[in-house]
Amino acid sequence: MSRTSRKREHVEHALATGQSETHGLDDVKFVHNCLPDLTMQQVDIRTSIGGLALSSPIVINAMTGGAKETYNINQSLGILAREAGLALAVGSQMAAVKDPSLVDTYRIARQEHPRGLLFANLGAEATPDMARYAVEMIEADALQIHLNVMQELIMPEGERDFRGALRRIEEIVSVLDVPVIVKEVGFGMSQEAAKQLAECGVAAIDVGGRGGTNFARIENMRRVQPLDMLNEWGISTAASLLEVASLSEKPDIVATGGIKNGLDIARCLALGASCVGIAGAFLRYAVEGRTEEAVKYVHSLHEQLTIIMTALGAPTIAMLQQVPLVITGETYHWATLRGID
Ligand code: FNR
Repeated sequence: MSRTSRKREHVEHALATGQSETHGLDDVKFVHNCLPDLTMQQVDIRTSIGGLALSSPIVINAMTGGAKETYNINQSLGILAREAGLALAVGSQMAAVKDPSLVDTYRIARQEHPRGLLFANLGAEATPDMARYAVEMIEADALQIHLNVMQELIMPEGERDFRGALRRIEEIVSVLDVPVIVKEVGFGMSQEAAKQLAECGVAAIDVGGRGGTNFARIENMRRVQPLDMLNEWGISTAASLLEVASLSEKPDIVATGGIKNGLDIARCLALGASCVGIAGAFLRYAVEGRTEEAVKYVHSLHEQLTIIMTALGAPTIAMLQQVPLVITGETYHWATLRGID
């Protein structure tokens, strides 16, 4: 299986197979505040991650590049990022590190979003030289390093040796002059893993929780003998946020995994995230080139978030992170059994 046809299949299966069962965010309830004492005009949704200022708490998360067909997708995403004022991560650049003829499929995002924030992306097999090259390739403002062990294990042609990832991440952090964000791709992040990453000096952790795009299911569609019992493997987005936010010394937190509306965004921010990542919900717009509709979708997310922040009397994201929450259901049980309060 070539890397190029794998990229095409990932996009096709991501559109077809849909999502995991639950991100757990429905277990997170706000306590209604009938005396918020502010005007909607006061609400300010700006935020920051790893020292980078973001005008919106929504990041278009890493999806693609590295195959000719993905040029158009990254072009659409670049236009969306520019028009909606969002940061954008490109998909794994390993394809272009190995084959320079594919560089344009990533660089198009920078061409369309010349002054915006762009994140480079590689896996934890990357060396410091590869990391430097990926950042230079798109003049990136940060580097994402993705961790996707379970995806690789289910992927028929996937990696089987996961030794040394932490040491390589630490080396990359020490040589790069842009912030490093370590992310999962939909299996979530534990407190223990997050602590190790924090000790390596990463600027931010993207929890990439279970509940959105389901890479177990996507890879199982590509297997002759599917490992379907693993389809709901992982830590939900809500539980992952509780895990990582419970660390005393923590990097900035990005919440990804099934985020679709302003209430999901508000819940993630209230659980301690500084911003959210959205991938799957933007994919169809990008594949079909419906950029104007995608921009309207982002504006509706901003409006929904602003309404919720107004109702809660939280004019800033820092204040939203302080509002009281009630955690119920499976997420409550998870947190209790894991000793997270
Ligand atoms: C991804 N994702 C991803 N992540 C990454 O770090 N590098 C990559 O190359 C890719 N590739 C990729 C392709 C496609 C088609 C999709 C849909 C996703 C994972 C993505 O960044 C995100 O973590 C997950 O998709 C979960 O977010 P959503 O989709 O539930 O919003």
